[in-house]
Amino acid sequence: MPAIVVVGAQWGDEGKGKVADILAEHADVVVRYQGGANAGHTLVVGDEKTVLHLIPCGVLHPGTVCVIGNGVVVDPYALLEEIDALRKRGYLEDDSLLKISDRAHLTMPYHRAIDQARERLRGEGLIGTTGRGIGPTYEDKMARIGIRFADLLDAGAFADALRRTLEEKNAYLRNILKEQALDYDRIRDDYERLRERLAPHVIDASVYLDRALAAGRRVLFEGAQGTMLDVDHGTYPYVTSSNTLAGAACGGGGIAPNRITGVIGITKAYTTRVGSGPFPTELIDDLGRKLREDGEEYGATTGRPRRCGWFDAVVGRHAVRLNGLNGLAITKLDVLTGLKRLKVCVAYKHEGQRLEDFPASLSALNVLEPIYEELPGWEEPISRARSLEDLPANARRYIACLEELTGTPSIMISVGARREDTIILRNAFTM
Ligand code: GDP
Ligand code: IMO
Ligand code: MG
Repeated sequence: MPAIVVVGAQWGDEGKGKVADILAEHADVVVRYQGGANAGHTLVVGDEKTVLHLIPCGVLHPGTVCVIGNGVVVDPYALLEEIDALRKRGYLEDDSLLKISDRAHLTMPYHRAIDQARERLRGEGLIGTTGRGIGPTYEDKMARIGIRFADLLDAGAFADALRRTLEEKNAYLRNILKEQALDYDRIRDDYERLRERLAPHVIDASVYLDRALAAGRRVLFEGAQGTMLDVDHGTYPYVTSSNTLAGAACGGGGIAPNRITGVIGITKAYTTRVGSGPFPTELIDDLGRKLREDGEEYGATTGRPRRCGWFDAVVGRHAVRLNGLNGLAITKLDVLTGLKRLKVCVAYKHEGQRLEDFPASLSALNVLEPIYEELPGWEEPISRARSLEDLPANARRYIACLEELTGTPSIMISVGARREDTIILRNAFTM
């Protein structure tokens, strides 16, 4: 009954899609447990690129069951668009391959409208959200006025809940955000159609996963976003609105903590972030631009350019501690090829003190300075490497340095976007 979790160890976009797709070959079930259509997970198989927002990355493996857990906030329009695009390509032909928790909350049209209007009003101080309605959906869940799939299936209850909530949302949209009100009949009719399409997928996902694990099935929990976007432990308020850590697989998947048998942290060999907020090792110079171009660092969901910088071991250790990482998957090592010297942040300097741990204070984060260690780079292209021995000595030294600074061994090194551009060091399910 192995159950492993893969989580982002930085600010998202670490390559979770690629790593989850590779691990899914050994999994019977792949589960998303938090976040929503703000995620953009890229898989490159053969010449074909797939970007998934809500559907777990097991979907390209025939027969693998994909589960959207209760902790995910689901925009049904986005989900259906994704299902239809995959079906056209011959995936997900059988309804039973995609299951949605009856306790997952729905992102409604007013959530998107509120998210986007608030960002416009914030002007310079914007969070830089994906505009997918994520924050407002989680707010309603916590305020106990959210609408779940179980409610969608009950037509009368859904119509009542929508009427009550929309009244309040429209007042907020009109009076505070100066936006147009949304039409009740239109939303109700649209969601009735969506109900028909999605109802066959809705189940009690916790019970399903419990039985799957008891029957010895291998389950992979696929995190979205990353440790530094966690609502409690990230760079608050420049975070997403869910807990993104491995522990959230329990609450958001509906499984007990002692079911989890391993946790893999995914980290780029450097760092990126999209949206506003602190980023101590950011490079706002030609080198940062070079990493963006060489790494094709543009958001998979919004297309925004990603901010780029050096690897940060303070962030790495934060991720190891909070997620209990047993192993690292290091991605995009190939992007560093050709740089003469590489820097790695080992600690921060703040008001004359050395900081080993990531601080909570935004004002400290704005002024602290990274302390760097330098390593020699390598010139040789490495995307064909399939074992550590195929890598130049300096690339191996760089990996060993990240392992040492984070106190965590690597289990996989990714040297290109394609599935096969990967050095597998250990099987994550049997670690
Ligand atoms: P995710 O959100 O964590 O799944 O990551 P994204 O898909 O948003 O962004 C990662 C990007 O890097 C995608 O375009 C991947 O195809 C690409 N990628 C993943 N691993 C590698 C790698 O090792 N090398 C290169 N060059 N690209 C990679
Ligand atoms: P994946 O799963 C990178 C960022 C947004 C913004 C902040 C809040 O592909 O790694 P939200 O829309 O969630 O309210 O935005 O979080 N963000 C991500 N950044 N990767 C993601 O997902 C992200 N999902 C949200 O850019 O700064
Ligand atoms: Mg992404």
